[in-house]
Amino acid sequence: MITLALSKGRIFDDTLPLLRAANIEVLDNPDTSRKLILDTNQPGMRVVLVRASDVPTYVENGGADLGITGKDTLIEHGGSGLYQPLDLQIAKCRISVAVRNDFDYERAVKQGSRLRVATKYVAIAREFFAAKGVHVDLIKLYGSMELAPLTGLADAIVDLVSTGNTLKANHLKEVERIMDISSRLVVNQAALKLKQAPIRALIDAFAAAVAERSTS
Ligand code: PRP
Repeated sequence: MITLALSKGRIFDDTLPLLRAANIEVLDNPDTSRKLILDTNQPGMRVVLVRASDVPTYVENGGADLGITGKDTLIEHGGSGLYQPLDLQIAKCRISVAVRNDFDYERAVKQGSRLRVATKYVAIAREFFAAKGVHVDLIKLYGSMELAPLTGLADAIVDLVSTGNTLKANHLKEVERIMDISSRLVVNQAALKLKQAPIRALIDAFAAAVAERSTS
């Protein structure tokens, strides 16, 4: 049995066409079912639904053979025990610094002010501001980052931006782009040895689907 860990939402939705290219159809719809283990049309393949930030943990510890996870999550997790064969070029977005529309970020940085930065991405934010030589106090949050500058909890946030609509709706502006994000396939190292043939076949099918999409 091959177990693939996915998170609900954009990663799940964007993975379905890749699975289809490998002749795998997921038989349950996570939007209407409460099931966490989803069968596929291939008796030897199943999908487990986990929190996005738990995907690397599941794969690293053998709770799943493979997983699909954002570069943001992988950097925060560390990802050292994972084989990362493929950038799937799905769930693309960026990770950016944002502040209130009326906050003069340039000036604060130039003046060497100490910034309070709220984020779920503490490792990414710490490294980015350290490289810039900006002193920051990092405030770890688990969601709704946009609220932090609006309530006075923080001067800035580091968060994912896709369309920019969430920032706009909350009177925030993007002031720096830290990095582009996409989702990667991660594989458990032991599973790769023990179940080499089916896992290699899946990696090859995904790679072919990614290559075909990039040329079409
Ligand atoms: C992300 C991010 C923003 C939003 C940005 O949240 O935290 O809130 O998407 O997207 P936009 O630029 O297209 O408006 P997500 O929906 O991934 O959920 P999360 O809050 O659990 O991270």
